Amino acid sequence: MRAEFTQGELVELLGREDFAPIYAQADQVRAEAVGDTVHIRALLEISNHCRRVCAYCGLRSPRTDLPRYRMTPEEIVSAACEAHAVGYRTIVLQSGEDPWFTPKILGELVGEIKARTGMAVTLGCGEMPREDYAYLRQAGTDRYLLKHETADPDLYRRLHPDSTLEQRVACLRTLKELGYETGSGFMVGLPGQTLDTLARDLLLLASIPCDMAGIGPFLPHPDTPLRDGTPGDPELTRRCVALARLLLPTANLPATTALTVRGDNGQVFSGGANVVMRKITPNSYKRMYEIYPAQLPDTDIPAQRAQLEEQIRNLGRVPL
Ligand code: 5AD
Repeated sequence: MRAEFTQGELVELLGREDFAPIYAQADQVRAEAVGDTVHIRALLEISNHCRRVCAYCGLRSPRTDLPRYRMTPEEIVSAACEAHAVGYRTIVLQSGEDPWFTPKILGELVGEIKARTGMAVTLGCGEMPREDYAYLRQAGTDRYLLKHETADPDLYRRLHPDSTLEQRVACLRTLKELGYETGSGFMVGLPGQTLDTLARDLLLLASIPCDMAGIGPFLPHPDTPLRDGTPGDPELTRRCVALARLLLPTANLPATTALTVRGDNGQVFSGGANVVMRKITPNSYKRMYEIYPAQLPDTDIPAQRAQLEEQIRNLGRVPL
């Protein structure tokens, strides 16, 4: 059932005049492979400290004007319990690359959250040595998110002067080997990106192969070197999601927050997506976690969960 495409075929598909048949096919593959469920994940942004210098990201370390925060372990566990109480079954703990959160501290948090709630725990805390990923897996971490961001090694290097695509992909392969449900993903509309790049992005997801893939439009942040860039196209982003579904029928593919910011009101769910994440970060911290500019509403964990469930039902799908 898994489709195989060459890079050239993917470029041709991405550039089609009429993409409607591909959306329909992606929707059908989604229905057959993962059903009508839309998984709602709680996203908690535990620290905005970051040692990296990613050219697109509002949390990049050279930003000395940005107030930095770390949630305390008590605050983190308490937010997790609140999410669990209103129906969440998965929590994603996300942060910049913050060495304060050592594997030991993260592992204890994962253990505590799992013991108290039984939720699946996903981490998105950046690149680590293999031994640290192994330790966190042993501590009970179920899933790990680490987007490859772009599969063009030269563009990768320009955007991340402190690292390489090779190193990123090595981390993803390590996560996979260690038995994590492994998530990657990329941005659509990065300056210098072409349809060829996007085809390579899709083939990279398939080659890992990823269990999850977050595909979102690039959004220029005013306090980064890419401030003058053009925002990524939501239609092209949805095309990438649909092709990811054909390449990886059983993958978990979220409607990314960035895609919602670019005006998607759920269309992506009829073209392959089956996951949505909702921030549960306390308001005082939420405003300091602007990876990209987004006017997000204040956090209200129960109300926003209920609202999402209703939106999903209105699409004819089943919230979980
Ligand atoms: N625009 C869109 N997405 C971004 N991300 C980071 N910065 C931006 C931006 N300016 C995405 C990256 C990262 C995820 C957490 O957010 O893909 O992996």
